[in-house]
Amino acid sequence: MKKFIWTKILFFSSTLVPLNIYALNNSHDLNLPKQQSSVKNQSTEMLKGVVSMPFELPPLPYAMNALEPHVSQKTLEFHYGKHHQTYVTNLNNLTKDTPLAQKKLEEIILESAKDPAKAGLFNNAAQVWNHTFFWHCMKPQGGGLPTDKLADKINQAFGSVDVFKQKFKEAALAQFGSGWAWLVQENGELKITKTANADLPMAHGQKAILTCDVWEHAYYLDYQNRRADFVQVFLDNLVNWEFAASNLD
Ligand SMILES: [Fe+2]
Repeated sequence: MKKFIWTKILFFSSTLVPLNIYALNNSHDLNLPKQQSSVKNQSTEMLKGVVSMPFELPPLPYAMNALEPHVSQKTLEFHYGKHHQTYVTNLNNLTKDTPLAQKKLEEIILESAKDPAKAGLFNNAAQVWNHTFFWHCMKPQGGGLPTDKLADKINQAFGSVDVFKQKFKEAALAQFGSGWAWLVQENGELKITKTANADLPMAHGQKAILTCDVWEHAYYLDYQNRRADFVQVFLDNLVNWEFAASNLD
């Protein structure tokens, strides 16, 4: 009998090792989905989220004070350090000990987007993705003008960069309550859209090119209720056109 028990223990022990390796290999990198593979080229830091916990807060691509005076360190400490972190924590809690813990972020987003009963899961997963994307849409000494292919496509779609900026700002201001303004690509063409709360282009078959967070937590400490001022500063002083261009098909 003893021999039988030890044989069983040894058998299960031998299966545990590869299972653990499997679990580690399938743990999440908290990165943008495949459609945003260029992000991985831009910021290898974001790839360092391969961890034992399912999801981790990806590093900011710049220092907390790097966007001053346009976005204060205080705002980033709250926006990135508290709000973005909370979405990650919530997502971990919602997926813990479920098959979802083995899935990629974008899979969770796309699956939960179709199911109103999973709104909590969708909101937190999408907000993790949205914020990770948004940090890369800005850079210190950003702004200026897009170049090359992106400039051509913006001119083709909107007539000029100035008109694009005007329409993007209008979309950002027209979003009632919390949400996001987007430049997206759909069937090859550029479009401006807005989404409410956590909603995002991939849930609508669109590819995100650029976004601006227009939740009040994005700007209230620096601009109070002046969303228009924040969006204008985003367009004039913060936009990372190289990142946007890297997202084009
Ligand atoms: Fe936000």
